[in-house]
Amino acid sequence: MKRSKKNKILLCLFFISCFVLVVLSSILFIKIFQKRKIEVLLENDLTAEVSSTVMVQSFLKEVKNGTIESQDEKLDTSTIGEKDITILLRDKRGNIEKYSFRVSVIDTTKPTITAQDNINVYVGTDLDLLKVVQVEDNSQEDIVPYIKGEYDLQTVGKYSLQYVAIDSSFNEATFDFTVNVIEKPYNETNYTFTTSNGFLGEVKNGETYIDGILIVNKTFSIPSTYGNGLTSDTQDAFDKMAADASSLGLNLYISSGYRSYNTQVSTYNYFVNRDGQAAADTYSARAGHSEHQTGLAFDLNSISDDFTSTPEGKWVQDNCYRYGLILRYPKGKDDITGYKHESWHLRYVGEELANKLYNNGDWITLEEYFGIDSKYQESNV
Ligand code: DAL
Ligand code: ZN
Repeated sequence: MKRSKKNKILLCLFFISCFVLVVLSSILFIKIFQKRKIEVLLENDLTAEVSSTVMVQSFLKEVKNGTIESQDEKLDTSTIGEKDITILLRDKRGNIEKYSFRVSVIDTTKPTITAQDNINVYVGTDLDLLKVVQVEDNSQEDIVPYIKGEYDLQTVGKYSLQYVAIDSSFNEATFDFTVNVIEKPYNETNYTFTTSNGFLGEVKNGETYIDGILIVNKTFSIPSTYGNGLTSDTQDAFDKMAADASSLGLNLYISSGYRSYNTQVSTYNYFVNRDGQAAADTYSARAGHSEHQTGLAFDLNSISDDFTSTPEGKWVQDNCYRYGLILRYPKGKDDITGYKHESWHLRYVGEELANKLYNNGDWITLEEYFGIDSKYQESNV
């Protein structure tokens, strides 16, 4: 009996020892296994700015028991919103695991407004002030700004206004500017103004340049002292054109090139005496308003409507733009240019602008392109 009790105790101890052994080895096994399991710690801030360059890996603060297998990968920040990301990790035994997390692409950047802070416009200019402002945003959204403040382009005055641009994440940008509605002539020697098509005009000592192009018409004059012959660009353009025309059997020559202010006084007066002022004003410029004084314009061959239907006239109509020359007074644009059609009067503007104005044969005038008029101040004709 005593012996049997002893055996029982020994058996019990054996089982307890076995149990403790199992528990201890399980703990050890779990410990070892845990050491091998990959652990990922993410950054606290899981957001990225729209349109910025962010690497997916930059959101991983630490990878324990493993390495990042994915190659450097850029987060798609082209649109705002939640982005699910999956990267590949490699554990210590070489096994590849997928790891997924989510980040938010957000927009906290204001749009950028680019505009002039002081805009001069002649009274009555039909300028849409939204034409002369540019808004860009990092979200690539097409943001239409609006104008805060009251103004009237028909009334001379100074108006303090503000452009406001808001993106879809409600980031708001503002830009303060002044619109100065001025009379023409304006009492300053040098100033800028904006045309109704949003081009920048510059008046320098009585000469008016729009987008860098010297403008002379009924509205814009040049000083009496301006000019001294055809400019070399104009002469070169004519020479090239005439040479090409000649190779086609066409004869082009300049019948009237540069005309000084005084010559124009005589020319205009001659026509006024002959046909009366109203008629003369439809085809002859008053002194100070003729392009011939700029040295950038010339008349070809016979100064008559007959020139239009000659082989030379037809060829010039469709080819002069290739030499940077424009047909300055196209057909049917009398009310815009202030002059009747002149198929013989060409003006040098450079090839880029000439190509635009040629418009595949449907000539656009300088007045239409820049958004300006051609009317004498006093008589409004
Ligand atoms: N015939 C053009 C308009 C001029 O006189 O300049
Ligand atoms: Zn002419």
